[in-house]
Amino acid sequence: MLTAPLLTTLSLAAGGLAQSISTIQTEGLVQNGSRWDTRLRVDNGTYGPEIEEVHYFYDQWPIGIAVASDGRIFTTYTRGTDQYTLGVVVNETAEEPYPSAALNLGPDELNTTWHGIAFGSGNASAFISVQAVYVTSKTSTRPETLWVLDTGRPTVYNAQMDPSMPYAQPGGPKLVAISLANDTIYQTFTFPSTVHYPDSYLNDLRFDLRANVSGTSGAGIAYLVDSSNEGRPGFIMVDLGTGESWRRLSEDPSVLRGGEDVPSYQGHPFYFRQKGSAIGWQQEGLDGIQLTPDGKTVYYSPLSTNYLYSIPSANLREKDTNPLAELQAHANVSNHGQRGGNANGFEGDSNGLIYQLMPEHNAIYYYDQNDGQTHAFVRDPRILWNDGASVGADGYIYMNINQLPYQPDWNDGVDLRVYPGAILRCKLPNNGTKITSLYA
Ligand SMILES: *[C@@H]1O[C@H](CO)[C@@H](O)[C@H](O)[C@H]1NC(C)=O
Ligand SMILES: *[C@@H]1O[C@H](CO)[C@@H](O)[C@H](O)[C@H]1NC(C)=O
Ligand SMILES: *[C@@H]1O[C@H](CO)[C@@H](O)[C@H](O)[C@H]1NC(C)=O
Ligand SMILES: *[C@@H]1O[C@H](CO)[C@@H](O)[C@H](O)[C@H]1NC(C)=O
Ligand SMILES: *[C@@H]1O[C@H](CO)[C@@H](O)[C@H](O)[C@H]1NC(C)=O
Ligand SMILES: *[C@@H]1O[C@H](CO)[C@@H](O)[C@H](O)[C@H]1NC(C)=O
Ligand SMILES: *[C@@H]1O[C@H](CO)[C@@H](O)[C@H](O)[C@H]1NC(C)=O
Ligand SMILES: *[C@@H]1O[C@H](CO)[C@@H](O)[C@H](O)[C@H]1NC(C)=O
Ligand SMILES: *[C@@H]1O[C@H](CO)[C@@H](O)[C@H](O)[C@H]1NC(C)=O
Repeated sequence: MLTAPLLTTLSLAAGGLAQSISTIQTEGLVQNGSRWDTRLRVDNGTYGPEIEEVHYFYDQWPIGIAVASDGRIFTTYTRGTDQYTLGVVVNETAEEPYPSAALNLGPDELNTTWHGIAFGSGNASAFISVQAVYVTSKTSTRPETLWVLDTGRPTVYNAQMDPSMPYAQPGGPKLVAISLANDTIYQTFTFPSTVHYPDSYLNDLRFDLRANVSGTSGAGIAYLVDSSNEGRPGFIMVDLGTGESWRRLSEDPSVLRGGEDVPSYQGHPFYFRQKGSAIGWQQEGLDGIQLTPDGKTVYYSPLSTNYLYSIPSANLREKDTNPLAELQAHANVSNHGQRGGNANGFEGDSNGLIYQLMPEHNAIYYYDQNDGQTHAFVRDPRILWNDGASVGADGYIYMNINQLPYQPDWNDGVDLRVYPGAILRCKLPNNGTKITSLYA
């Protein structure tokens, strides 16, 4: 059983149904297993391929994950007070800073103040708060690469420990390429303030490294997600040859957060409870993104709606030099309808399936372009918020479990998470494996 934290909460109802307005409920969450004994039909909470427990987190709660071809697993930790923000798994219960501890700014170096306004650090050569990572396979011109997306926007705390997120300043938000052959940074891309706004938040990343992709210099392109809780999300593209970056679909209805979204986690309705602020709703827009194996289509969705969308990637590659670029992009958005819940991160496999992490259902669903429907893939009560996923060259999908709805920043300052966090994995259907067709 969980140990109840000492709280002064307001009871709204007399009798046995007291509800706390201060925290999300954890009733029903148990550790070390329990089973039922009844003749009645029950939902046993699981389906799909066998889930394996790969790794346990005991020191920092993970966000992003990426698996390399040699089996190394990289994890990210948004900051916060964590000592480091990019790590590599070293054994079943520990991770270490990657590629070095020295690349991480200290917790007191993450933000600055200018004219009374809080900004994230502008340091382009050190890590501030890494949200997401992605591994691309070796190409004729690039080593196997770990791509690192630093938001430049840490969470900071005032004297009352109320959290807030300072604005970004140019230099802080960046895309960093680390060679997995020599564990060294070999490229860093930063953004002008007209592309990455002060209130942008870089959330996820995908790549097409083929030389013949239209609208690029021939050294590949990155598709980045700006999930801006402040309300102007969209896509940011980077030409990996010239370093030029531009936006598309900013504030298109398909990238905006849902209105007053109240998801359920473990059967409990979830409101956004940030200490020092009134109770509200999750504000995150565009979040999940996945490129199809032919590079032609980008699937995506906001965190706080139930809808899946796509756009031809060619529309995202069009730059502002084409005066119709934005009109054509908006006109070419496809709405694939609802999928049965909010979705967090996406992944994809060599069979073209679009995997969507479904924290409301402790599950992963996938969208199949062949029948236009969303399908169940795997479900397990151990999936207490799957935050990121990565398909390995071994044909497994790996996911980070971090109990996010129970973190203090969403939960009135109270930490209701219980270590360990976890990396789980399961085998993909029909010999699905990591997409390599985009990395010629
Ligand atoms: C669960 O089991 C582990 C290992 O046996 C033990 O260390 C831990 O205290 C148990 N947790 C609870 C909440 O019973
Ligand atoms: C849940 O039920 C399915 C059959 O529908 C079974 O294959 C699976 O092993 C069960 N899982 C657990 C944890 O009991
Ligand atoms: C795992 O690695 C950590 C950090 O290097 C070390 O302290 C710990 O002893 C290791 N545990 C095992 C079981 O090897
Ligand atoms: C960082 O932000 C915190 C919280 O607002 C503030 O107390 C602190 O002074 C800031 N640090 C700097 C160097 O401005
Ligand atoms: C950025 O951080 C690194 C690591 O702490 C430090 O060596 C470097 O001097 C910093 N650069 C700037 C411009 O502050
Ligand atoms: C590491 O690999 C990158 C990419 O191939 C290369 O540019 C860089 O020079 C290498 N660095 C070292 C220290 O070997
Ligand atoms: C869709 O995008 C293409 C360019 O990729 C463009 O030619 C076409 O006009 C767009 N469709 C609409 C309805 O704007
Ligand atoms: C998966 O690969 C194995 C070994 O190559 C093969 O025997 C099997 O037919 C494949 N299954 C599917 C569904 O393609
Ligand atoms: C682009 O290059 C890839 C491999 O480098 C090739 O498979 C594909 O057919 C090429 N596409 C076009 C349109 O030439």
